[in-house]
Amino acid sequence: MPKATSTRKGSKGSEELRKSILVLHGPNLNLLGSREPQHYGLATMEDINQALKTRGEACGVSVDAFQSNHEGQLIDRIQQAKREGVDFILINPAGYTHTSVSLRDAMAATGIPFVEIHLSNVYNREPFRRHSYFSDLALGVIAGLGAQGYELALEFALRHLHIKVASHGSQKTEKTH
Ligand code: DQA
Repeated sequence: MPKATSTRKGSKGSEELRKSILVLHGPNLNLLGSREPQHYGLATMEDINQALKTRGEACGVSVDAFQSNHEGQLIDRIQQAKREGVDFILINPAGYTHTSVSLRDAMAATGIPFVEIHLSNVYNREPFRRHSYFSDLALGVIAGLGAQGYELALEFALRHLHIKVASHGSQKTEKTH
């Protein structure tokens, strides 16, 4: 299946496929900013998405974000990601982390590498939050670092995809990792 993402000129002038990263937010994360700030902080989902898109753009990577309160819609978006040739997923499955075999199966079916993110430290809360249907499939898990967790996950994804990362707050550099 061809990639839906755009192309850019590579360093040798050839057309390279632009890498793409999908950010998936599960149920209730649309309420970030006002939802239980003692657990989830004050950043809104839009704040998080914007920071990720800006950082991705600076590194020549497309970052798309999707939130749904509905399991089926998230599954459809994951299947679509496979068809589009998405290279990496950052996912906070929210409450579905602890309940959804079907969402897990969708992630397994795509085989797209991913990092699981939780704003709160799910290990110092109710015991039911300690089990995840995703962690054993994930390349890594970030929990308890708030909105910064998404930024750190993106940095990991960029390096995983061998992207030449831009230095923070300025233009692209030729730095490789
Ligand atoms: C969460 C933790 C989950 O237990 C909870 O259901 C959420 C958010 C987090 O980001 O800390 O909705 O995934």
